[in-house]
Amino acid sequence: MIQFELNGETVSTDSPPDTPLLWVIRDELKLKGTKFGCGIAMCGACTVHLDGTATRSCVTPVSAVESMTVTTIEGIESDASKALQTAWVDEQVPQCGYCQSGQIMQAADLLSKNSNPSDADIDAAMNGNLCRCMAYTRIRKAIKSAANGGGA
Ligand code: FES
Ligand code: FES
Repeated sequence: MIQFELNGETVSTDSPPDTPLLWVIRDELKLKGTKFGCGIAMCGACTVHLDGTATRSCVTPVSAVESMTVTTIEGIESDASKALQTAWVDEQVPQCGYCQSGQIMQAADLLSKNSNPSDADIDAAMNGNLCRCMAYTRIRKAIKSAANGGGA
């Protein structure tokens, strides 16, 4: 049995240790906000926070998160995260929406480490989060807006 904290609650799974965390989150624990895109850490759709750091859950075996804290899009609560979600709505960032929870999780990680990122900082941090709808300009604008308290 593998135990970890998910969005503030202790959860456990008897899935095989090499089961991707993404499958445990979606199929076993029924939190569907985290998406499957590529399965090989190349798109960012599956991004969650592992002890506060953005992590690709599709390539993270569930055994690796034993006793750790996992946060998904359903559970982010920091002020920066809330500012991001507000900015996302204000800037009307999503198109199809599929990549968006991963984008917000990655952006929340960035703002937790750099509260005033430059365009270059944003591009570097968000480089691995792909958007097939090409919402990159709005994503960057929303991150800057969130960093500036909604005023940018
Ligand atoms: S599904 Fe994990 S990075 Fe694409
Ligand atoms: S909004 Fe469609 S993939 Fe990003």
